[in-house]
Amino acid sequence: MDDVPSKSHQENTRDSVAGSVTPADLSIKSRNLHFGGSPIENRWWVGGDPYATAFFNALSATFPVAESFFITTIKQFREGAPEKLRHEIRAFIQQEMVHGREHLIFNRHLERSNYDLTLLDESVKGVMARIQAMDPIYHLVGTMCMEHLTATIAAEIISNPDLLKDADEEQKNLWLWHGSEEIEHKGVAYDTWLHVTRDWSRLKRWTVKSAFMARISIGFTKNRSKGILELLRQDGITGPRAWFGLARYALSSPAPFRRTLGPWFQFFLPGFHPWNIDDRELIQLAESEYEAAIMDQSEGEPTVTELAEKLKKIKLPKVA
Ligand SMILES: [Fe+2]
Ligand SMILES: [Fe+2]
Repeated sequence: MDDVPSKSHQENTRDSVAGSVTPADLSIKSRNLHFGGSPIENRWWVGGDPYATAFFNALSATFPVAESFFITTIKQFREGAPEKLRHEIRAFIQQEMVHGREHLIFNRHLERSNYDLTLLDESVKGVMARIQAMDPIYHLVGTMCMEHLTATIAAEIISNPDLLKDADEEQKNLWLWHGSEEIEHKGVAYDTWLHVTRDWSRLKRWTVKSAFMARISIGFTKNRSKGILELLRQDGITGPRAWFGLARYALSSPAPFRRTLGPWFQFFLPGFHPWNIDDRELIQLAESEYEAAIMDQSEGEPTVTELAEKLKKIKLPKVA
């Protein structure tokens, strides 16, 4: 299997990482925005829809732990990376730290709305701990796979207005902002993987990443579905009503699971790279939506130091 984009595609891009098609003029910057200054007003903050709300809440419950894991992982591979990639890794870490901070705040607001996130939290910690017990290269493969899932969902959130239709403004801005930065740094973990495995054969690369992606995707679908059903249970929605409601939401309308199947599958194709699709216009689209939030925040706001301290406190369980 050929895991490297065609030569002609590479000619117009930087070549500091062999096989990367990350745009040479891509600039990754942490916007360090603050959301969640006030409690969530409506329990079902996505247009009064419990299924849509549970979908976003279940994702958010996993972010602080997962993104803390991505930061720890990518840091391990920063040394020896080409200079441009090192800068991108630094920006990636800054962005993910701020995401972790903002989703910690969002999750605290959910708890104040009487959602118990314990099961969701334990589930994601268990998955991360199991990956962390493996050889460090698998931390990177896991991060790279999960970053593809995240970027795919991010593009869907921004491009499909039905997903956040009638959502409360502050929460909507949080998700649009997070989604835009996920698109912006979607190639960083992949380029790090390409660099670290530059001596591997194409077949070995493809086999390892594909096997891991299959495993991660099954776990992701299963665990997020469980998380959504758990939150719906806490809203008094159980049994067939919950299952059919979730299936309708995920697969029929607005169908975030079904609509992301195509982009997800591209990961397995020869020559895949996250930037084979240049969707930077989605970053601008999202920014134009949360422009007011940007305008409200002056430069010189607190730096990433405070959130680095918070994220350090996240402990993963030990795996035998
Ligand atoms: Fe993130
Ligand atoms: Fe990310």
